[in-house]
Amino acid sequence: MSASVTDFDTQTFLTDLATEKVGRRFAGGFERIAREMPHLDTQRRQCEEWARTFSRETDKGLYLSGKTGSSKTALAAAIVIDLVSRGFGVEFSNVADLLADVRASYDSDDVATEHEIVEEAAGVDLLVLDDLGAEKITEHSIGILERIIDRRYRALKPIVITSNLDGDALYSEMGDFLNGQRLVSRLCEMVEGVALPARDMRVKKQTTKKEDHAGPRT
Ligand SMILES: Nc1ncnc2c1ncn2[C@@H]1O[C@H](COP(=O)(O)OP(=O)(O)OP(=O)(O)O)[C@@H](O)[C@H]1O
Ligand SMILES: [Mg+2]
Repeated sequence: MSASVTDFDTQTFLTDLATEKVGRRFAGGFERIAREMPHLDTQRRQCEEWARTFSRETDKGLYLSGKTGSSKTALAAAIVIDLVSRGFGVEFSNVADLLADVRASYDSDDVATEHEIVEEAAGVDLLVLDDLGAEKITEHSIGILERIIDRRYRALKPIVITSNLDGDALYSEMGDFLNGQRLVSRLCEMVEGVALPARDMRVKKQTTKKEDHAGPRT
């Protein structure tokens, strides 16, 4: 077997793996964001540069905040695609789903245990937590997230977070819980903020489609 065939197979495998992690909607990565969302050029470049210079020595992560539809998940997914395609171990988890998986582990022996879920999230090269703050917050749920984040904090491992809440709003939501204070305090040292412009791209696309359909106004 020639080296080029092996390389091609490996690359295809990694690209498929990345798409499976983020979902087909987000498969376009940075290229598509650059093409379709020029208003995000500054934030896209910041994320792209962060991904380009990523190594196992990287300790500072990113906190992507903005209103619903502002493309937080799209940017986080583009980072995941980039890193998985280069062979890094990345976990991309919606926070509510992660917590639901932990709850499911209490009722069944056939799924991953809480310990296994925490170990996996704590150990990968990059952990992406999508939609932090959208889940129902309890001392127990924050405790699980805080354990994961504290493990990564101590090991100097980076995290990328997306949230509808900026740092102050996150503290307001979580600060009443002891584990919430511990979590937000650690995040302050672990991430750099990327604030996205308040434009709901889902609504924008529908409006543009309707305008195209109606044809040019005379
Ligand atoms: N790679 C991409 N390039 C361009 N557009 C994309 C890409 N991936 C997703 N989109 C589109 O970007 C828009 C923004 O979606 P996204 O889910 O990222 O918003 P969000 O900020 O995460 O919203 P929410 O807070 O509701 O989760 C959607 O219309 C989506 O289809
Ligand atoms: Mg999202």
